[in-house]
Amino acid sequence: MPGAYAGFVRNPVGKKLAAQLGLPRPVRLRRYAADAPLVDGPVLVGGHGEAPVAARVRSLLSAEGVEAVDEVAAGHRVGAVVADLTAVETPSDLEALRALVAPALKGLQPSGRMVVVGRLPEEAAGFAQSAARRALEGITRSIGKELRAGATANLVLVADDADANADATIRFLLSGRSAYVDGQVVRVGAGAPTEPEDWRAPLAGKVAVVTGAARGIGASIADVLARDGATVVCVDVPAAGDALARTANRVGGTALQVDVTSEDAGRRILDHATGRHGGLDIVVHNAGITRDKLLANMDGSRWASVLDVNLGSVLRMNEVLLGDDGIREGGHVVLVSSIAGIAGNRGQTNYAASKAGVIGLVDALSADDGLRRRGITVNAVAPGFIETEMTANVPFATREVGRLLNSLSQGGLPVDVAETIAWFSQDANAGVTGNVVRVCGQSLLGA
Ligand SMILES: NC(=O)c1ccc[n+]([C@@H]2O[C@H](COP(=O)([O-])OP(=O)(O)OC[C@H]3O[C@@H](n4cnc5c(N)ncnc54)[C@H](O)[C@@H]3O)[C@@H](O)[C@H]2O)c1
Repeated sequence: MPGAYAGFVRNPVGKKLAAQLGLPRPVRLRRYAADAPLVDGPVLVGGHGEAPVAARVRSLLSAEGVEAVDEVAAGHRVGAVVADLTAVETPSDLEALRALVAPALKGLQPSGRMVVVGRLPEEAAGFAQSAARRALEGITRSIGKELRAGATANLVLVADDADANADATIRFLLSGRSAYVDGQVVRVGAGAPTEPEDWRAPLAGKVAVVTGAARGIGASIADVLARDGATVVCVDVPAAGDALARTANRVGGTALQVDVTSEDAGRRILDHATGRHGGLDIVVHNAGITRDKLLANMDGSRWASVLDVNLGSVLRMNEVLLGDDGIREGGHVVLVSSIAGIAGNRGQTNYAASKAGVIGLVDALSADDGLRRRGITVNAVAPGFIETEMTANVPFATREVGRLLNSLSQGGLPVDVAETIAWFSQDANAGVTGNVVRVCGQSLLGA
């Protein structure tokens, strides 16, 4: 479902016209494939000063059979650039980033990757360092807007002494799994990450529950978690029973018909996960609805149903799912927000309220001492325009605009959201908690 405009610019006449008029030309994005290398082509790795993360990246790449290079000769191509700016002390140190990256950008492959690594500004020693660290965000987001042909730019901010925790994040951002993640900042903190035995099955042995798994993004989340090795409990309303059974059968998991707004939803899910699969490691709160109306025309039932499905049910289920006999130590909780919850959206006061509330919940749960002691991470994805039945119901013109108003000039696919959730769910990501990562192709909405 590329959309009318994307279809048009893929035919020869449309392509030529778009080039002449300087219109966006969406390309097919590089996505995960089991037999594909982590990155297409060599990776330029450099930085400023000691650059300890760059050293880790070189060994990570060598283990994957990908060449790391120190410079790019004119006319040569690279698959990605990793710039380690963890040692910046003043704004003048940022020149190292310009000097490394500027000559390489013209040689970046289609769907190439730019990953900038820095330290947390709030842990800086003094004003100049704090400013220099924060400057990386402006640079990275601007590079994202300058890149073409499906290439992305993202920033990883690593706490002092947490360099080892950043490996899984850098790996994700370099790979095809992060196709629609662009212009984002990921914060990596303390934690006790464990590397998977096999990076192609990082969720092996884990039990996951996904709500709203009958179709759309939820079905794709079930697919990707299962592909990565997890056993998946697929939850949806009884009315979606047939589609739910199809998802569960496809992923070799189990189906559980539960309305997430029912009082006993959390208890039934936990009993099912423990009774059938021996426990619970990953919870994905994906079920969600829209009931759009301008606030002036919004009745109480539209208001209440959206807030209850998207937010109230999550709070209630968490009381059981995150309780002491719920999710296991070192588990992962992922919530599904939306860019509407960040930027607001006309006709969506109820939906935006619920999705902003989800972000508040991530803030509070990730800071909770009890959950932190148990090593449980809590993060959210905030999808932008994703091609699903939900967005197929959006009026044509609004839909085409939604597709195009981002740095990649196209809508994302459910799999893009699913890949980000699967990455949040890895034990190798124990240091990643309290993050809200937009899967929006660097949408201009709320940018
Ligand atoms: N599609 C997008 O562009 C987009 C953008 C931002 C956020 N999201 C969010 O992503 C999530 C999935 O969206 P989607 O596009 O796949 O939607 P969808 O409508 O295609 O699928 C939602 C699924 O949730 C299920 N569901 C709804 N109410 C439920 C309930 N009370 N109990 C159990 N299951 C219930 C539905 O039956 C359906 O299978 C939602 O939270 C949505 O808000 C989607």
